[in-house]
Amino acid sequence: MIRKAVNSDFPILCKYYKEFDEKGFDLFNKGPFSNLLVYEKDQEIVGFINYSIIYNRAELDYIYVDERYRRNNIAYELLEFCIEDAITSGCENITLEVNEHNQAGLSLYEKFGFKKAAIRPKYYHGEDGILMIRELKKDE
Ligand SMILES: CC(C)(COP(=O)(O)OP(=O)(O)OC[C@H]1O[C@@H](n2cnc3c(N)ncnc32)[C@H](O)[C@@H]1OP(=O)(O)O)[C@@H](O)C(=O)NCCC(=O)NCCS
Repeated sequence: MIRKAVNSDFPILCKYYKEFDEKGFDLFNKGPFSNLLVYEKDQEIVGFINYSIIYNRAELDYIYVDERYRRNNIAYELLEFCIEDAITSGCENITLEVNEHNQAGLSLYEKFGFKKAAIRPKYYHGEDGILMIRELKKDE
């Protein structure tokens, strides 16, 4: 089940977020455009997605699945939810950034039709970041 995060989800999200990004926990303080959703399985939170819908464009900030539950289509369902929300909200496109060596992420995004749009050299501790975009208009 995918649902909005609530305050009691804070500890587990904090744990997941630290594994993903050492910069610190700010998922709950990203402002009015930010959406934070969790994936719950047997009453346990096993993943989350954080994305922003800013007027006519959407941005995927984080997607994460607990290691024990990977390769079960959970990220697929979370990203599908995000894209549907963006389409419903009238967004023209959705963008994201991923480390050049993150094969799981790259493959997930390519599966959803994201295309490489630009390289941000040395963005991730010396490794390149790849900016990806997917158009959301019906005829594209
Ligand atoms: C990337 C991540 C979210 C994928 O989660 P997941 O639930 O295991 O992914 P899914 O089972 O939904 O897989 C959907 C598709 O993603 C791709 N994928 C997922 N894991 C993969 C892997 N280890 N290697 C290659 N492709 C992978 C595949 O295209 C897969 O489709 P397929 O099963 O038909 O081959 C997960 O590995 C993760 O949390 N990684 C750490 C955080 C991270 O890197 N997030 C993205 C960075 S922006």
